[in-house]
Amino acid sequence: MKLIPEVFAARDEIQRIRRTIHAHPELRYEEVRTADLVAQRLEQWGIEVHRGLGKTGVVGVLKRGTSERAIGLRADMDALPIQELNTFEHRSQNEGRMHACGHDGHTAMLLGAAQYLANHGEFDGTIVFIFQPAEEGGAGARAMMEDGLFAKFPVDAVFGLHNWPDLPEGAFGLREGPIMASSNEFRIDIKGIGAHAAMPHNGRDPVFAAVQIASALQSIITRNKKPIETAVLSITQIHAGDAVNVIPDAAWLAGTVRTFTIETLDLIETQMRKLADATAAAYDCTVDVAFNRNYPPTVNSSQETRFAAEVMREIVGAENVNTAVEPTMGAEDFAFMLLEKPGCYAFLGNGEGAHRAFGHGAGPCMLHNPSYDFNDQLLPIGSTYWVQLAQRFLAHREA
Ligand code: NI
Repeated sequence: MKLIPEVFAARDEIQRIRRTIHAHPELRYEEVRTADLVAQRLEQWGIEVHRGLGKTGVVGVLKRGTSERAIGLRADMDALPIQELNTFEHRSQNEGRMHACGHDGHTAMLLGAAQYLANHGEFDGTIVFIFQPAEEGGAGARAMMEDGLFAKFPVDAVFGLHNWPDLPEGAFGLREGPIMASSNEFRIDIKGIGAHAAMPHNGRDPVFAAVQIASALQSIITRNKKPIETAVLSITQIHAGDAVNVIPDAAWLAGTVRTFTIETLDLIETQMRKLADATAAAYDCTVDVAFNRNYPPTVNSSQETRFAAEVMREIVGAENVNTAVEPTMGAEDFAFMLLEKPGCYAFLGNGEGAHRAFGHGAGPCMLHNPSYDFNDQLLPIGSTYWVQLAQRFLAHREA
């Protein structure tokens, strides 16, 4: 492992920052204290700070030399509405709020890099440090972009990093193309005509239509979608009726669709509307389909992904960089940034969880678990990655 000595030497300070953030988790668009801490540190290190993008987002700008080239490095700052079960000293002080996705670590790793780059950085160009709010369901990345993130602070490429419990401690995982799925939700309202349950011929049964639609929708996945394209369609709610002897007037079902491409998503939505309409019509019911696209798929560009992998291999060795990591059907709002800029979103292994041995339960647990904690051993690794990535991206070039 080749860590930058100054970054490694600063690990206690960065760990204190990480644990302070962990102890004071804030939900989406409420990251006031966290944003204050980030802004204060950046200013203290002489980095130009801009606030208020995406409400609580913070941008740091560090410029050297004369090159017009620029790189964006992004961390997320928000926590989750979870009651923490850990008992260690830095556990959450905020009732019902918790850094269960390790965004405390993401913020600290990027601060560790900012500190080094401000004091010792050797590069020609501009580094844009992006501390975004509301990754967890609030589309904070999009909110910052709508407030002019890339118009005010143009970058040639943008990079993101997420701690990942499924990978060994300090190992990197990434891949070209889709690494996380699009996240979408739908609700189908079916209107019929209520009747006595013993005399269904007097009504138009929306419950029967709902069940037929629920069943038919799965045929999109097996009959319409290309077999080699990945997609999930899950119906998670069916609601209708209040009494065993009454056919209700209406029924509704809802669920989620996940895909790795917009094309597959378009196909699924179109087929879903067609099947719902036609099936409801067959039983003399009417239907209303609401389909909301939340986050697009997170798609890594080839050149930037290969570049990121090279930097990773120099730090942790080729044996600890998996460039064909299994993509996940979970979603990530860094996807919005990748729609506008080339770049790479990668995972950094959080390991087996031994670092939590003195908290609630040892051993591994997944993100969004009430016993989760970011692994502090990753701090100098993640910071070194950010530093090397920026310095190599903005290396002096001979004309
Ligand atoms: Ni997360």
